[in-house]
Amino acid sequence: MSEQSYGLLKGKKGIIFGPLDESSIGWHIATASYREGAQLAISNVALALRVGKPQELAKMCGNAPLIACDASNSQELKTCFNELKQKVGPVDFIVHSVGMSQNIRKGIPYDKLNYEWYHKTLDVSGLSLHRMIAAAIETEAMNDYCSIIGVTHMAAQRPFTTYTDMAEAKAILESVARNFGSRLGDQKIRVNTVSQSPTWTRAGSGIEDFDKMFYYSDLLAPLGNATAEECGDYCVTLMSDLTRKVTMQNLFHDGGFSMMGLSQPMLHLMNNTLDADAMRKAGFSENVIERVLSKKQS
Ligand SMILES: NC(=O)c1ccc[n+]([C@@H]2O[C@H](COP(=O)([O-])OP(=O)(O)OC[C@H]3O[C@@H](n4cnc5c(N)ncnc54)[C@H](O)[C@@H]3O)[C@@H](O)[C@H]2O)c1
Repeated sequence: MSEQSYGLLKGKKGIIFGPLDESSIGWHIATASYREGAQLAISNVALALRVGKPQELAKMCGNAPLIACDASNSQELKTCFNELKQKVGPVDFIVHSVGMSQNIRKGIPYDKLNYEWYHKTLDVSGLSLHRMIAAAIETEAMNDYCSIIGVTHMAAQRPFTTYTDMAEAKAILESVARNFGSRLGDQKIRVNTVSQSPTWTRAGSGIEDFDKMFYYSDLLAPLGNATAEECGDYCVTLMSDLTRKVTMQNLFHDGGFSMMGLSQPMLHLMNNTLDADAMRKAGFSENVIERVLSKKQS
């Protein structure tokens, strides 16, 4: 994280949904925005506020009020924004850094998803951005020029085998950002999503083979994976007055991973393991092994 404050959020107020502990992306968005001069409120589900570390974060951020709220519950969101208005006032930024998938936690493959959990994933990780913005509009909790940010992942656009139902939740999240962005322009309110690299957090590291996914993108991205701290710094720019005309965008914060095709070191690394045993061990089907190795030049 940048040590230096540029005062980019001086005089601004905001709420951050989703910081749990020091690994959370939301945690670092909170500390970066506080460093830049913002007045904050922190929100999470009641249990996380009780047993997690958000109280510590609130102290670090100038005794920010903690507001318990289930982001998949519209009534709780309305109560949350009313409380926010009383304690902090209408806000200049809202950060949605919320996500959860029971299917991912339990390692259920895509073709065997539990549909109750699937609904829950979509509700908590995708539709909640819609509920959140709708509640903020209804309670008049946003100032003109408010910046709304959701944190997403590239699995919304391209399949990542182990991302399962979260991929659809992220596609919803990104679509909601575009659709509310198109409707809130009259109030100069902007809505964007930040598509972040794999990051070692509670939610992230629950994904099957997360370590391998992490190293893969870290090796391929020209700048390497972006950390949670760096995500905090990037989000500051989106909350600042310097980005007032950026809206409805899905902004990749991933060290260039999303734009990469091939890199020579990765090609060589892969070529070293291009034999039947290694491919079998990695999970390739016999069809694929046969197809590829039959064409392998000596
Ligand atoms: N970690 C990664 O690799 C990665 C990559 C790209 C995007 N993201 C996204 O970043 C965001 C933050 O996740 P993280 O990786 O910091 O993990 P995290 O576990 O630290 O944060 C997720 C938060 O969501 C909260 N949450 C769960 N259900 C909720 C509900 N019903 N209402 C309100 N809050 C609820 C949890 O309590 C937790 O604080 C998520 O949207 C996640 O999908 C993560």
